[in-house]
Amino acid sequence: MTMTFNDNTVSVVIGGTSGIGAAVAKALTQRPGRVEIASRATGLDIADAASVAAYFRKLGPIDHLVVTAGSSAPGGKVADIDLHAAKAAFDVKFWGSIVLAREAARYMRPGGTITFTSGFLARRTVPGTFVKTAMNAALEAVAKILARELAPLRVNVVSPGLTQTEAYAGMAGDARDAMFDRAAATLPAGRYGKPEDIARGYLFAIDNPFATGSVIDIEGGALIN
Ligand SMILES: NC(=O)c1ccc[n+]([C@@H]2O[C@H](COP(=O)([O-])OP(=O)(O)OC[C@H]3O[C@@H](n4cnc5c(N)ncnc54)[C@H](OP(=O)(O)O)[C@@H]3O)[C@@H](O)[C@H]2O)c1
Repeated sequence: MTMTFNDNTVSVVIGGTSGIGAAVAKALTQRPGRVEIASRATGLDIADAASVAAYFRKLGPIDHLVVTAGSSAPGGKVADIDLHAAKAAFDVKFWGSIVLAREAARYMRPGGTITFTSGFLARRTVPGTFVKTAMNAALEAVAKILARELAPLRVNVVSPGLTQTEAYAGMAGDARDAMFDRAAATLPAGRYGKPEDIARGYLFAIDNPFATGSVIDIEGGALIN
């Protein structure tokens, strides 16, 4: 499967400085070729379309784009929503992903792939999480259209379930541990996700030449629970 990777292969992981993206980048660096990682920590804010355009112009030809950036979104009921924060979250994860795909596709070589990240809340009804639900559902829907519009480039989405990453660093330690313990106790898979578990989904999307327009659920069974 990794035979399509050679010394000239260029993979780009936006969000590769942390969590799931870091695990994908680590897995890709085991393969031939070059892996570029970017996030605000490296100077790229994907909510800034001009910066995204400049980033890909500078990079030149690429083969694979993985987007894991943008894990934060305000919680709360629709009635209580902070519209400014909700729109800012969309600007990063939804519009950022769209702009990344638009700009990356200009430089993508034949056989290229784009893999976005949504999340299990896209299709799970949980009060108080509608911003995540809306962003992720929108991304899954648009990815399918992009898979048609950009064909024969392939476009897929990985939809993770609860995964232990730096995204939860802001939570109190006890509450965070309780959340992960509860997930492990209640999910059919009997565990919460690790970044490496989710990274396998991106490798599948990149490697399988028959996969496009797919949403790959890796969520411990959250959607059947
Ligand atoms: N962890 C979970 O339980 C879970 C569940 C479902 C879905 N997901 C989804 O999986 C993806 C990865 O989540 P994660 O848990 O790995 O998150 P994470 O550890 O917080 O990593 C997020 C990455 O995105 C980058 N980023 C954030 N805002 C950015 C911006 N404006 N421009 C460029 N880069 C930006 C961050 O780097 P900088 O801060 O340096 O910018 C970081 O590298 C997210 O889309 C998240 O919604 C995660």
